[in-house]
Amino acid sequence: MDHRSHEAIAKWERRWLSASGVLSLIFVLFIAYSLATEGAHIAQQNGRTTPDQLASNAVFGNPGVTPLAPGKFQVAVVAQAFAFTPSEIRLPVGAEVDFFLTSRDVIHGFHIHHTNVNVEVLPGEISYLHYKFDTAGEYRLFCNEYCGISHQNMLGNIVVVPASEYARGDETLAEAGVGERIYNANCAACHQADGAGVTGAFPPLAGNLTSLYDAGGRDYLKQVLLNGLQGDIAIDGVTYNGVMPAWRQLSDEEIANVLNHVLTAWGTPEEFRSYEAAEIAEARAQAVDVTEVHNLRPQR
Ligand code: CUA
Repeated sequence: MDHRSHEAIAKWERRWLSASGVLSLIFVLFIAYSLATEGAHIAQQNGRTTPDQLASNAVFGNPGVTPLAPGKFQVAVVAQAFAFTPSEIRLPVGAEVDFFLTSRDVIHGFHIHHTNVNVEVLPGEISYLHYKFDTAGEYRLFCNEYCGISHQNMLGNIVVVPASEYARGDETLAEAGVGERIYNANCAACHQADGAGVTGAFPPLAGNLTSLYDAGGRDYLKQVLLNGLQGDIAIDGVTYNGVMPAWRQLSDEEIANVLNHVLTAWGTPEEFRSYEAAEIAEARAQAVDVTEVHNLRPQR
């Protein structure tokens, strides 16, 4: 290569280098600007946890809203495919919130629409965010990390209401069907709000559970909720081989409530008896392996 063409190349190299240097500088300025004016900050590590210890964890054992002081709240949320627990969060206007987030399985996102709250939720790590809700309204909450086949249904809601309504709302919430609320928060992302499921992916509950129950499935259903389910099942000629996660983190009462909901919402088994918390506690004490749950399934 002669000297002149070498010079020409070197000239272009210098131009590209300075262009990328200028770009980097612009990006740094943007970050500095948003740190200074938009309240952005870089996420810090806030402690660790492991998915199997969540039930006994002080913050995540009973996720949800905890008042800390007037106008100050702690909100703990556990993400798992494909739901946030809890999926509905109610807060009064002006609430200053410390969010503590973790995942039970894979990486999820926690993004509150119309705010700068947007953080990754990692299994084993606790993410922390502080946010003040100055405006009343509904804030859509969604997962923005692809986490599996029903990722697009991983949604939640933050409802910010005037302080006067806030105290009243607690009572109406308590009146709404508890089982239905638990179902909508945890199960509907896969099994759908109407219980129809998704053919080939998530088994239907409507039109399926009543006959399963009458075929001797009462105990089986408790174990499915407590320990999850793996292995092929066939319903109306369609094979499903998804993985139902265990829902042990729900209390005995919550599991009884949600079972009573799914067994009465879309038809009721002929011999239906309501589930009670005490029998869920008994079933919980039996060490049943997830593969054994599959064997308990009544053949129809
Ligand atoms: Cu969780 Cu996408």
